[in-house]
Amino acid sequence: MKIHVFANEEELHEAAAQTIVRLLRRKPDAVLGLATGGTPVGIYAKLAAAFRRGEVSFARATTFNLDEYVGLPPDHPESYRSYMERHLFRHIDLPQERAHIPDGNAADLERECERYERLLQEAGRIDLMLLGLGHNGHIGFNEPGRQLHSRTHVAVLHPKTREANARFFRSPEEVPARAVTMGLGGIFKAVTILLVVKGADKADIVHRALTGPLTTECPASLLQLHPDLVVMLDEGAAARFGRPAPGEAQPVNGLR
Ligand code: PGA
Repeated sequence: MKIHVFANEEELHEAAAQTIVRLLRRKPDAVLGLATGGTPVGIYAKLAAAFRRGEVSFARATTFNLDEYVGLPPDHPESYRSYMERHLFRHIDLPQERAHIPDGNAADLERECERYERLLQEAGRIDLMLLGLGHNGHIGFNEPGRQLHSRTHVAVLHPKTREANARFFRSPEEVPARAVTMGLGGIFKAVTILLVVKGADKADIVHRALTGPLTTECPASLLQLHPDLVVMLDEGAAARFGRPAPGEAQPVNGLR
C-alpha cells in the first residue's frame, strides 16, 4: 500500500486526476472503475480540464460505475447517471455506449445485477478503480454487516449512509433505501485501486480501515489485502497517521 498525503484539496484532486491521465496515455483503451459522491467531484473537474487542454482522450476507454440508486428516474439530478453526465461524461469524449452504470430502474433487479456482472467479466480486469470511503467504512454500497458480497447485488443502504447522502436531497426521506452496487470481487479484481479520502471527519475511519483488523464490519478494511492499493488523503483525513512534513505530496511507502 502506498499512502500519499496532500497539503490541500487542489493538489489531491490534481494528483488523482493525473494518475488517471497517465494511465490513459499509456493505455488508451483502459477500463476505469468510477465512483460518485462528494469526493470525486474535484477529480472529475481536473480530468475535464486535462481533456480540454488536449492532454488526454477517453475515446477508447471503458468505464464502470460502482453503483446506482434503485428507483430514482435516470434524469433525477441525484441519480448517479445524472451525476456522471454533469461532472464528467458531458465534458469528455468517452463514447456513451462504453460508459456503464447499473440501471437502478430495471424491472428485474436480479437480472440487472447479472447483466452488470457479465459486462464486468467481459471487459476483463478494471485497470484502475477509483474509490471513496463512507463514514461507516463502506466502499461502493458494500455496507458493514455480517456478510459481504463478491458480485454485483442489490444493497440496502445503511441508515448512516442515507443520513450522509441526505445532504444531496431535499429531505432525508427522499434518499433511496436501496442501490445496485458492484460487489467486492469486482472491485478487488482491479489492477490498481485508488482510494481517495478527504476531511477530518473521515480520519478515524480511514485509519481503522487501513490499520485495523480485517472485518466485514468495515468493508474497506479488506483493501489491506489488495496488492496495488494507492491511498490519497488530505491532511484532515491523514490526521491519525501523524503529521506530514510540510511541502508537496508526501509519497509514503507503507504506513507512517
Ligand atoms: P462522499 O461519499 O464522497 O460523498 O463522502 C463517499 C462514499 O460514501 O463512498
